[in-house]
Amino acid sequence: MDSFSLLFSSLLLLILAAAAADVSVDSREERSALQRRGEGGAAATPGGLRFSGGRRGEFKILQVADMHYADGKSTGCLDVFPNQTATCSDLNTTAFVYRVIRAERPDLVVFTGDNIFGFDATDATKSLDMAFAPAVTLELPWAAVLGNHDQESTLSREGVMRHIVRMRHTLSRLNPDGTDIDGFGNYNLEVYGSEGSSLANKSVLNLYFLDSGDYSTVPSIPGYGWIKPSQQLWFERTSSRLQKEYMSKPEAQKNAAPGLVYFHIPLPEYSSFDASNFTGVRQEGISSASINSGFFATMVEAGDVKAVFTGHDHLNDFCGKLTGIQLCYAGGFGYHAYGKAGWSRRARVVSAYLEKSVDGEWRGVKSIKTWKRLDDQNLSTIDSQVLWSKGNNGRRRKRSTKN
Ligand SMILES: *[C@@H]1O[C@H](CO)[C@@H](O)[C@H](O)[C@H]1NC(C)=O
Ligand SMILES: *[C@@H]1O[C@H](CO)[C@@H](O)[C@H](O)[C@H]1NC(C)=O
Ligand SMILES: *[C@@H]1O[C@H](CO)[C@@H](O)[C@H](O)[C@H]1NC(C)=O
Ligand SMILES: *[C@@H]1O[C@H](CO)[C@@H](O)[C@H](O)[C@H]1NC(C)=O
Ligand SMILES: *[C@@H]1O[C@H](CO)[C@@H](O)[C@H](O)[C@H]1NC(C)=O
Repeated sequence: MDSFSLLFSSLLLLILAAAAADVSVDSREERSALQRRGEGGAAATPGGLRFSGGRRGEFKILQVADMHYADGKSTGCLDVFPNQTATCSDLNTTAFVYRVIRAERPDLVVFTGDNIFGFDATDATKSLDMAFAPAVTLELPWAAVLGNHDQESTLSREGVMRHIVRMRHTLSRLNPDGTDIDGFGNYNLEVYGSEGSSLANKSVLNLYFLDSGDYSTVPSIPGYGWIKPSQQLWFERTSSRLQKEYMSKPEAQKNAAPGLVYFHIPLPEYSSFDASNFTGVRQEGISSASINSGFFATMVEAGDVKAVFTGHDHLNDFCGKLTGIQLCYAGGFGYHAYGKAGWSRRARVVSAYLEKSVDGEWRGVKSIKTWKRLDDQNLSTIDSQVLWSKGNNGRRRKRSTKN
């Protein structure tokens, strides 16, 4: 190397190093800004998650369904306009995750399966790392469940979930300890009351995550997998324990804390609605398992579940209420997933709000709202609706109008 090219390459290195330093400063600032949000701080406590205090009394969850990540920038997009094909890849999916996190500043991100599209991912580990990178980089607590495509690359379902639970900032877990259970990634998370309030040490919002499987392994039953009796038993026991704890001393509460349930494949009950009684759209069939394993009835009986969130059918993004439980889709998020050109990729946001007592203290959850964010020019917010509010529990109500 002559001295000129030596000088040139040193300069280049300096510039690159400066650029890298810039990026890390930016993301460090962004991380602390994300962590400062909500005055009282909604950051994850070692024991779990917590509602923010201050003026907000809120806990916000971003649902990302069906990223269908493969190899990153070499993986093209499906169902975009022909004039968008050349500039579209998995990196657009990544950009959308960053964009929606920056706009919403969620307390938790939940990825509801088909996180990677295994058939097209050369290396499952690398694909998973790229897919979840925004939550990891921004140091946001995140949770994931499996879809039916996550295991189609170089890792089994167990291998994928084992990799996920070892990633940074995730609250995902493989399975409950000491329980013989079907699937991988059945766990629950507790969201505690606001710091300093009398419910600070109680879970005021319960999140359940289940593995809805991939495909039937029973020869006489075609199609997708389902939530098995072992998983339902674990759910029942967990729900019953949490309800008992919430309604016992200290600070015994009258009613169970609301529960939200996340998994990939919609239940057959998602077919109970039409445009007259859901909010959102249904542009394709409901791709449930071909049998009904009874999980909906199990949740109704448990009594604490207010809403269920799935993905799987990318062109459906509605919420409809059946027997006191809202059944919601998130709508397709990923660009390497089938979709519809001109119909923006989207994400679902759910926010729970605490009740304030007359003396100004934050109490339990008062209401739960949802809306969607579109990956369009304005990151539009659509279909805002109240999913549940205290006092209307289980009772039939007129359909709430869109706002
Ligand atoms: C790309 O194609 C779509 C559909 O034909 C059209 O609506 C849009 O204006 C085009 N965009 C550009 C930048 O040409
Ligand atoms: C994908 O990202 C590129 C680079 O930012 C952008 O130019 C393009 O419009 C995006 N495509 C879509 C479909 O959003
Ligand atoms: C919650 O637990 C912490 C740590 O054990 C304790 O200091 C605090 O007083 C408890 N708060 C309430 C409201 O019980
Ligand atoms: C929704 O409305 C249709 C009729 O338009 C009805 O058949 C169906 O039972 C309703 N579903 C629910 C859950 O109320
Ligand atoms: C974005 O907002 C601007 C200004 O309100 C509006 O003119 C434009 O139509 C919006 N674009 C989309 C895609 O909604």
